[in-house]
Amino acid sequence: MPQLRTVQPALKEKLTAFQKEIERAIDQYMPTGDTRPVRLHAAMRYAVMAGGKRIRPVLLLAASRIFPTKIDAKAAAVAIECLHTYTLIHDDMPCLDDSDLRRGKPTCHKVYDEATALLAGDALLTLAFELISKEYHNEPALANALIADLATASGSRRLIGGQMEDVERAGQDLHADTLSFIHENKTAALLTAALSMGFRMTQPTAEQMKRIEQAGYHLGMTFQIVDDILDATASAESMGKPTGADADACKTTYPALYGLDGARKEASKHTAAAIEHLEALGGDNDFLIGLAQELEQRGSEKARAPDILRPHLKFIKTRLTLKLQKAYIQPSQFWPDSSVGRAED
Ligand code: IPE
Ligand code: IPE
Ligand code: MG
Ligand code: MG
Ligand code: MG
Repeated sequence: MPQLRTVQPALKEKLTAFQKEIERAIDQYMPTGDTRPVRLHAAMRYAVMAGGKRIRPVLLLAASRIFPTKIDAKAAAVAIECLHTYTLIHDDMPCLDDSDLRRGKPTCHKVYDEATALLAGDALLTLAFELISKEYHNEPALANALIADLATASGSRRLIGGQMEDVERAGQDLHADTLSFIHENKTAALLTAALSMGFRMTQPTAEQMKRIEQAGYHLGMTFQIVDDILDATASAESMGKPTGADADACKTTYPALYGLDGARKEASKHTAAAIEHLEALGGDNDFLIGLAQELEQRGSEKARAPDILRPHLKFIKTRLTLKLQKAYIQPSQFWPDSSVGRAED
């Protein structure tokens, strides 16, 4: 399973404890693999149990423990991981990122088939809301707020909207506005929901709720910026998913627009802002502050020289190919290998 690589010992211990708690809860709350239709439930479990860092449920559980509460956040933590896993299954399908590897294993549509993967994703999305409505039915106001948090974050204006522009804008000129729209929505929205959902179980004030949302936004931005950096610099083995994929598909990423150092500076600014908001909350916030630092550190390892150039070169080459094709000129007249990302499609 891909792990956070640089975690401090005390933080690592806490993180591992959270992850174990989540693994047990996932097993408990998900339909068993022999539930009919077996192929569907087996595919759902395959994708969720394949591992993963469990960042969203960890954030949710940790936020639910900033202040004391009697409410058990585990079902909501499983719900957000189910919803997140659905986004990964669909994100990997040929019509989106067309990826063969996820969480160190073949993607769901490779092990099963596209129809099963599509339906497993649909079912995980629906299961998320079923779990919340059933497990918090004794607290109707809380259940309602949790459902609103999760539905809003994952809907067409947020997560799915971010995914839409991620695909739609690939291969186009880079714009800072598009970049922040994509990152705020495809990723930061769900990380924010993770913190908000957990934190609202502690009955915070409206002002404290605003703080956690700000922390979630900044932490989520760092998370996706670092994901982009690692796509350009890390190995597929260490990530458990293919790397170099963003440049190949000419995606709008932080390294493509600002370069690796620029992207790292942005990640660092967002982390500092996230920590400021978490500190202002007080309570049991040490773990979340430490985790925010670690999530940024993942992207700070030194990249090999060719990797530093890769996002830029690939992007320029694809842009040029597209422009030549628009002018009815065969790119292969200019370079023999015209197999550059989407330009061929
Ligand atoms: C991958 O999320 C998708 C992004 C938003 C970058 P994670 O990096 O949290 O993936 P897992 O859950 O650990 O596999
Ligand atoms: C995926 O972003 C975000 C969602 C699934 C919502 P990416 O496409 O960058 O994620 P990876 O790199 O495949 O994990
Ligand atoms: Mg994607
Ligand atoms: Mg992807
Ligand atoms: Mg990525």
